[in-house]
Amino acid sequence: MANLATLFFLCLSLSMSTYPQVFHAMAHEWPGGRSTRIYDFKVQTMTVTKLCNTKEIVTINKMFPGPVVYAQENDRIIVKVTNETPFNATIHWHGVRQKLSCWFDGPSYITQCPIQAGQTFTYEFTLVKQKGTFFWHAHVSWLRATVYGAIVVYPKTGVPYPFKHPFEEHIVILGEYWLRDVLQLERQVLASGGGSPPADAFTINGHPGPDYNCSSNDVYKIDVVPGKTYLLRLINAGLNMENFFAIANHKLTIVEADAEYTKPFTTDRVMLGPGQTMNVLVTADQPIGKYSMAMGPYMSAQNVAFQNISAIAYFQYLGAVPNSVSLPAELPSFNDNLAVKTVMDGLRSLNPVNVPKEIDTSLFVTVGLNVNKCQSKIPQQNCQGPNNGTFAASMNNISFVKPTISVLEAYYKKIGGHFTEDFPDAPLKFYDFVNGAPNNAPNNTQAINGTRTKVLEFGSRVQLIFQDTGTFSTENHPIHLHGYSFYVVGYGTGNFNPQTANFNLIDPPYMNTIGVPVGGWAVIRFVADNPGVWFMHCHLDIHQSWGLGAVLIVKNGKGELETLPHPPADLPRC
Ligand code: C2O
Repeated sequence: MANLATLFFLCLSLSMSTYPQVFHAMAHEWPGGRSTRIYDFKVQTMTVTKLCNTKEIVTINKMFPGPVVYAQENDRIIVKVTNETPFNATIHWHGVRQKLSCWFDGPSYITQCPIQAGQTFTYEFTLVKQKGTFFWHAHVSWLRATVYGAIVVYPKTGVPYPFKHPFEEHIVILGEYWLRDVLQLERQVLASGGGSPPADAFTINGHPGPDYNCSSNDVYKIDVVPGKTYLLRLINAGLNMENFFAIANHKLTIVEADAEYTKPFTTDRVMLGPGQTMNVLVTADQPIGKYSMAMGPYMSAQNVAFQNISAIAYFQYLGAVPNSVSLPAELPSFNDNLAVKTVMDGLRSLNPVNVPKEIDTSLFVTVGLNVNKCQSKIPQQNCQGPNNGTFAASMNNISFVKPTISVLEAYYKKIGGHFTEDFPDAPLKFYDFVNGAPNNAPNNTQAINGTRTKVLEFGSRVQLIFQDTGTFSTENHPIHLHGYSFYVVGYGTGNFNPQTANFNLIDPPYMNTIGVPVGGWAVIRFVADNPGVWFMHCHLDIHQSWGLGAVLIVKNGKGELETLPHPPADLPRC
């Protein structure tokens, strides 16, 4: 049996070469990729029926999940995005480091204005020294709920995986599905001041599976040959939930996390926050049968409603009775923090890595929710948060407000008034972050609004200490940094204490999204060698909407290879 993924990849490469080549005129040469892969993305609405409900969703090319972008390490990617919907759109290439190509990163109002109805923007970037499982997603409002797809980057020709070549590869995208219009939902939730209702279903490759109403045939399935080993490329594209994933009676061996190889680590289940990707090997070494692959909730916060029905897909052996009931997968309980820690502890870079030992800039960044005082004349409508306040979220108690033009454009063209450069290196007040709110008064947990950035020198060695706060409830926050991967050198529970914190400077994982442990802390390190404006935010969209983010600006270095080129001519206008 041929390797399906490879076949698909070859077909795509062939058909792609017939596309006309369009290049932006640039001031200078880009770092050269070996081949150029050209894709056409049309943002289009499509009618789907799920959970006995028919609605319009926004998609790319009327596919849900969207088309897979296949490439090889060092390839150049060109994606022409045409917006055929009435809604604003952008696409972010999550995990792609965008070396010297910040203009094509995609977060709305950070590196570009949205692509408006009827407009086109062509994204161009090179996968410089990057391979593995990534994904792309819309980065405006909550459009990511249905606008997402995988990016699969193979090693250079002739370079094998650092593990036995799997018999087949499969993409497994975890998602969340809403029966409501997600753009409206975001507006309503923000206007209410209260929390967000949970998703109507979890999905695996767009399918909720048999545990949901009307979904017994809306199931994803992988057919497996007994004795063979499969590589699953797991992606959490969900909006507002972190998730456990497990396969009944089968072990998962993690070999890659956030598109970087890891030491093989075998486990019964994994946890992925939105924004995280993970490659796992699974061997079909069990009696012939039909096994469940399950995706369930990991909810570390208190008193938050969440979807508790698992999405189920099938891992089905050739020769299994097709209509037999599948063996159930065992997921940890929704608040099993230890299960999450066990997976994290297992993530080690495959080889010793070059972690910055000395640090030029160290920031202490609190992450968490806030409750602001009600400002509305109709509190019953607008102040449905705790204590009749409104929910907010912040880093160092500053709620990030997106500007009306992109931060990158304002910075590059020196247009004043859109952002400030005073994001603090530490919170204004230190207190017991985990166990106590400031002043112990539930109503005095206000955040300050601002579009604040932190400016970093080119080449500086940066350390960020993320500290979860319990102002509302402690919670695991998947913090994502654009433009970089970073070494996760340490993490733990409680308040960060430099005296007792243990750092791994030998083989820490190299990631782009770190789940800061609930009621705990995580420390990351990287060298700021990619000039541009980079968003750093919680990948739970509701937290991002409430302001859980900040922007890092990395200055140019010397010469062309350390300088951000001019913007492309078709950069969307606001
Ligand atoms: Cu995948 Cu700024 O996000």
